[in-house]
Parts: sequence; structure tokens; C-alpha cells
Amino acid sequence: KKKLILDMDTGVDDAQALMVAIADPGVEILGITCCNGNTPLENVLKNTLRVLKVCNRLDIPVYRGCSTPLLARQQHAGDFHGKDGLGDAPDPDAPGLELLQKRKAAKAIVKMVNENAGEVTLVATAPLTNLAVAVQLDPDFPKKLKALYIMGGNTESRGNTTVCGEFNFASDPEAAYIVLDRYTCPTYIAPWEFTCRNSLPWSFFDQLLAHDTEKARFMKKISCLWMTKAQSADYQKEITEGKGFNSCDTYAMAAAIDDTFITESDEVAVSVELQGTNTRGMMVLDYMDLLKKEHKATVMKKVDLEKFKQMFMNSLK
Ligand code: BDR
Repeated sequence: KKKLILDMDTGVDDAQALMVAIADPGVEILGITCCNGNTPLENVLKNTLRVLKVCNRLDIPVYRGCSTPLLARQQHAGDFHGKDGLGDAPDPDAPGLELLQKRKAAKAIVKMVNENAGEVTLVATAPLTNLAVAVQLDPDFPKKLKALYIMGGNTESRGNTTVCGEFNFASDPEAAYIVLDRYTCPTYIAPWEFTCRNSLPWSFFDQLLAHDTEKARFMKKISCLWMTKAQSADYQKEITEGKGFNSCDTYAMAAAIDDTFITESDEVAVSVELQGTNTRGMMVLDYMDLLKKEHKATVMKKVDLEKFKQMFMNSLK
């Protein structure tokens, strides 16, 4: 089985990505490390446990991670994910935080990777704070990763949070910088504009969420707010050409699960802008190789949308 560690700030698309991973029989989730991001850390922890409960997988270890960015001012994405991070559709019987592991996220990442050297794929769908702290604790552990998949950054300087910044990178630019600089394992990036350009039709999601299963009902409840918002956000409609829904984090997850999911990509050195009135947090792509960085990342451009649909279908069965 493919061994995954998931680093998440569980909002709506993290939940979708997590359900896709859980549904895949070829995947073993070693642990989920939680990070501040879409919503404050306490909500992220609760939301992660809620998703695991719906999937009957409360056996998967969940770890508490960083509650603030390294340096940046804290921001959340309540507009899309709701104040609670899961569409403001609460579950009165949500599992309690006593289920969390004692070990903290960054230490847990280092330990799990060292114990499974060469076998672990890390999927990061949150601001990269936990990953930055992990590499400070053990500078060598990234060499033992099989691969790193990141949802974050942007390729056309189109922001979704600041003028030029995508949420995960703009929320903790210093952490993104450290990760892009120090994780020299095979690295795959699903940037913001790519997710928009590879969106799935709204009609597909309507059909999907109409399924009569507990998971589909849960997904429908938590996704309502995001879908309404995305259908009316002009800056996003323009780039998706009004076509449909881009479950951002699920692209990184699908690519980590299935090696044939990515159909077009660029190999390029990447970094992130740390200064600039409008550009702080923007991903930088060094196509001219001026930064002389040996390590190149695979930046996703196109994916197999039929495979993507199938993964979503399976996740709600
Ligand atoms: C990213 O920001 C978050 O709001 C989503 O969960 C995703 O990880 C998209 O820019």
C-alpha cells in the first residue's frame, strides 16, 4: 500500500481530499497532522475528527500542529469554508479532542518518516507551517521522503487571497520558502490557477451530492456555502470559464494516490516572494534557471478528469 501522511487545515476541500484518500484501497494513512489555516487550529482538529467519524476511521492518528504562521499575520478563509471551516453545518455529536495523539505534528512527521524511510508520501494541503518546523527539527528527514505533494502557490500571479497570493502560500510565506528550499525530495505542486483550469462541471457535483449515502449527505451539508460562493466569485468564474468546481486540495491528493493522474506538467525550480507590497506570498517560477537551484519541482498543468470523477464517486459510496 502507498503510505501517506496528510498535513491539513481541514476545511471543505481538505475534507473532500481526505475522503478520497480514505476510500482508496491502495492507500494507508499513517497519520494526519493539523495546522492553522482555513480556520483556527481548534476547528481544524475538530473538523478532521468529524470527517474521520463519517468515514468510520477514527483509528487514524490525528496530531495537533502549529496554531499560528511563523511570522505572518494570521488569516482564515471563512468566506468559503464557513466560520467553523466546514460550511457552518455543525454536528452536535462531533468527536472530542481527547482522541488526539499526545505527540505534536512536526515531531510526528519526522518520526513517521524516519521509521518508514523511502516509503512515505507527504501530502500538504494547508499553509506549510508544520512542514517548515519539521525540517528545522530534523534537516535530513526530507531526503527520506518518497515524495511531497503540495496544494499551493500560483503560476500566473493571480491571487485568491492577496492580489498575487494563493491562500496557503500567502498565509505563511516564510514557511513556504523554507519548504521549497529544503525539501529536496521529488516535489509536486498543484497551484491555484491549475485547479481552476481543471475544474469539474457543476452538474457532476450536483449528481454526486444527490447520492443517498451518509457520506454524500455530509459532503452536501459542508460544501453548500463554498459552492454558492464559488459560483458567484467573478475573479474565479473568469478563470474557470464558469465551468465548474475546483476542489483545490483534492488535486494534490489525487496526484499523490495515482501516478497517472497528472497528464501535463512543467519541471521548474520554484520559490516564493517574501517581500513586495502586492507580491508577498506569490510563487516564483524560475524558468530561466537564474536562481541556479538544483532541485526542480513538478508543477501540474493538466490532469485526467475522468479519473478525478471516479475518485470523487468512490469517496462518497
Ligand atoms: C487553498 O486555500 C484553502 O482555502 C483551500 O483549502 C486550499 O488549500 C486554495 O488556495
